[in-house]
Amino acid sequence: MSAGVVNRQLLLTRYADNLPGEEHFTLTESPVGTPDEGQVLVKVLYLSMDPAPRMRMSGGSALPQLPLNTVMIGRGIGQVVASRDPRYPEGAFVMGEPGWQEYACIPADGLRLIDPSLGPLPAHLGALGNSGLAAYFATLRQGSPKPGETLVINAAAGSVASIAGQIARIHGVRVVGIAGGSVQLDYLRNDLRFDAAVDYQAPDFASQLSAALPNGVDVFLDLVGGETHDAVMRHLNVHARIVLVGVIASYNRPPDEVDTGQRHLLTWINRRVRLSGFLVGDYAAEFPDALRQIAAWIREGRIVTRETVFDGLEACPHAFRALFGSDHVGKLLVRL
Ligand SMILES: NC(=O)c1ccc[n+]([C@@H]2O[C@H](COP(=O)([O-])OP(=O)(O)OC[C@H]3O[C@@H](n4cnc5c(N)ncnc54)[C@H](OP(=O)(O)O)[C@@H]3O)[C@@H](O)[C@H]2O)c1
Repeated sequence: MSAGVVNRQLLLTRYADNLPGEEHFTLTESPVGTPDEGQVLVKVLYLSMDPAPRMRMSGGSALPQLPLNTVMIGRGIGQVVASRDPRYPEGAFVMGEPGWQEYACIPADGLRLIDPSLGPLPAHLGALGNSGLAAYFATLRQGSPKPGETLVINAAAGSVASIAGQIARIHGVRVVGIAGGSVQLDYLRNDLRFDAAVDYQAPDFASQLSAALPNGVDVFLDLVGGETHDAVMRHLNVHARIVLVGVIASYNRPPDEVDTGQRHLLTWINRRVRLSGFLVGDYAAEFPDALRQIAAWIREGRIVTRETVFDGLEACPHAFRALFGSDHVGKLLVRL
């Protein structure tokens, strides 16, 4: 790689107490680094917009606050341009945590090689990446739905849920998606072909949900928390399983407001409900098999995927903010 190449980076320069936006980041330039022993220099091609880093932009959450004036964290895909680790030769495509910048020196142990034969590069941050893996294991291992049962999922048009719902349908499960607004509802009905789609932003949300759940809920994949969580509690069947995947409704709230909402302890006792917390990393040893299975379902047309792609490093703050709105479907990415 020729000397003097400039690396553009977005630094976190202000903490957020509500929605993230351009005002929290500053664009800067520095020379591209050279990798030390055990490191790999990667040219970043796509950055993944994921909700969890929002928690590192303010204090008091379960995750440690990111120091100011550091490159904003984020997962991404890139191509190796210089390597000090034989596992990652020049030219290889890799997945890792480059952060919001155009080049990154990354410790090789934090990288994973991408198998381009499984699908196009952007899909490796969505259905063939963390989102697809979270969908696969949360649904099949922790939700364990049986054919004929009903599974409810919120943030249903998003990256994880759109795949999870389709995996459940492949297994003969009735899938009800909860999402907000017409773009997402159309996607659930017309592209993903969920059995029912319910708009949590509509004034008659409660009656829409009741109508969609004539046989109650056997599995609830909760990606959101907040009001949609509370609404589903009224429909739980005996021996229902609740898989706690995320609480995106809380990520932009001050920490002292997070633990709000109705409490449901007696419901869970009376209906012998099983709750389980879920972290996709717990299943890392099984990722290769799961990815092969998801890739096969995509090839067979049994899973459809969609990405919403923004262009250029400058678009990151806007794309990140879009995660907390209802205008995108599928995986949100920035192409560099
Ligand atoms: N535990 C794990 O291992 C793991 C792994 C990956 C992801 N996750 C979690 O899974 C969830 C979804 O992640 P994703 O990457 O697939 O994101 P995503 O669903 O593609 O995008 C986020 C969606 O959440 C919904 N949303 C945002 N703010 C909301 C609010 N205040 N109330 C209700 N809905 C809201 C929006 O759709 P609507 O129009 O429906 O509002 C938005 O489309 C997140 O909570 C994330 O942290 C967990």
